[in-house]
Amino acid sequence: MAPAGSLPSGTVLGDFEIERPLSAGGMGAVYVAVQRSTGKRRALKVMRPELVADERNRRRFVEEARIGSRIDSAHVVEVVGAGVDEATGVPWLAMELLEGHDSPSTSSAEARSRSPSSSTSTTSSRTRSAGRTTSASSTAI
Ligand SMILES: Nc1ncnc2c1ncn2[C@@H]1O[C@H](COP(=O)(O)OP(=O)(O)O)[C@@H](O)[C@H]1O
Ligand SMILES: [Mg+2]
Repeated sequence: MAPAGSLPSGTVLGDFEIERPLSAGGMGAVYVAVQRSTGKRRALKVMRPELVADERNRRRFVEEARIGSRIDSAHVVEVVGAGVDEATGVPWLAMELLEGHDSPSTSSAEARSRSPSSSTSTTSSRTRSAGRTTSASSTAI
């Protein structure tokens, strides 16, 4: 897998300034970033450079931003911004930073070392309580 984010701290994408790498998924690297206009810490997903050339990938990424900003649900991560970097053409999207992912002790190395099966999946990363819901229902049965 490619490194979980090679953009240096201080990189600015739209209203967001990268603080540190957080994790990575199939589509992009996820960083902790500060939303400059509000001072709030956000999760910033930046598309993997090797995927940018394929228009279908870019469309899928834009879809994720649209869907995430349209659905108003406590179980879906809110998308708070999205754009395409002018210089590189790389799409990015900013989300609310989910709790439990932002502990200062969680280094990117630790995030990378988590196995795919034990780390949060695409689905659980977009849901606030998927793990809790699953275990609650399985213990109730
Ligand atoms: N909003 C978020 N807040 C905190 N961490 C996140 C957030 N979104 C994603 N992550 C972290 O980044 C990882 C990859 O995210 P994911 O949405 O699966 O990316 P991809 O679309 O590239 O597969 C997740 O497993 C999670 O650890
Ligand atoms: Mg994923």
